[in-house]
Amino acid sequence: MEGLIENPKSLSPVVGPEAWIGCDMASLQSEWCHEWTVAEIAEIQSAVDKVCRSGLDFLQLTKADFPLPTVSKRILYMRQYLLEGPGFYLFRGFPLDGLSLREAATAFWGIGLYIGRPCSQNGKGHVLGHVKNLGLDYRDPLARGYQTSAALPYHTDSSDLVGLMCWQPAKAGGLSSIVSSTTVFNEVLKRHPEAMTELVKPFYRTRWGEIPEGKNSWAEVPVFMPHDGRVISHYVRSAIRKGQLLPGAPPLTDHQSSALDIVDRIANEDGINLKMDFQPGDMQFVCNHFTWHSRTAFEDFDLPEKRRHLLRLWLACADGPSLPSWMTNAYEGVTEDGRPNGIQVPGVPLIAPLEAE
Ligand SMILES: [Fe+2]
Repeated sequence: MEGLIENPKSLSPVVGPEAWIGCDMASLQSEWCHEWTVAEIAEIQSAVDKVCRSGLDFLQLTKADFPLPTVSKRILYMRQYLLEGPGFYLFRGFPLDGLSLREAATAFWGIGLYIGRPCSQNGKGHVLGHVKNLGLDYRDPLARGYQTSAALPYHTDSSDLVGLMCWQPAKAGGLSSIVSSTTVFNEVLKRHPEAMTELVKPFYRTRWGEIPEGKNSWAEVPVFMPHDGRVISHYVRSAIRKGQLLPGAPPLTDHQSSALDIVDRIANEDGINLKMDFQPGDMQFVCNHFTWHSRTAFEDFDLPEKRRHLLRLWLACADGPSLPSWMTNAYEGVTEDGRPNGIQVPGVPLIAPLEAE
């Protein structure tokens, strides 16, 4: 099969900025977390006002409609840190007081324009996503985790980058945690090299019924894909589990299950992962190819307008890391410039809704 690693035993650990350890990064917060300055906030707010006055729809906006003469330099630095560095970044301190959801979403969308092209995040064509408990049951084969209040284990999303903006934090829980998938790869090689044989081979995973043109209801993707001196990763264990329910999907072997248990165990080790508590206005960006993200279960306030609500962007970057064919053919749809294109279902137009649907 194309792209298969011939001899997993010959693999060696990857050295690079994306192979970080959580306890090291916790002491380097000033490197990956930027608190907006007063001048930067004013510049972003002035761009938001301009867009809101124009009445333009999000999908019509270009960078010229959202001018950020100085903030754009900061965003470009962050973008480089995501694509060529450790693979995650946090912007903190954007004030939401007095802002409508539309204004906050405009700020987030406008910043996203300087990072990449928004992709559809589901079968409804949503390019502005809403991570909110809609009362769905995570055990439902077609439910997506972001529509529930369940704990979401470490996983990747289906785009080069994912961005989350906190509009409302939870009453309790909902703690975000990330881990370097390259570090997990290195640790598996060191501690359980026999498991790597399974992890570089494809796993069947569901597409949750959101099926791009010409694809099956399942996809086959390895967890680790050594490629061009780096290790690209794609991992959604719940999608592998739900893939088992699809007719024709080969049953997961014991070797495969225990290899997945090993990666989950390593990712969950304190010191390996890095935890972040979301504050209102926080904007977290993560490169899916080298970083897994997770969150703890959460409890909501009773009032509907106080419920945990994050805005989400999936962004494609034309100059993103070189990817193996698994990522551009087997699973993802592909943009014109060859990047993962999120979840685009034929005949479904792109929309940027302001509420969870
Ligand atoms: Fe996610």
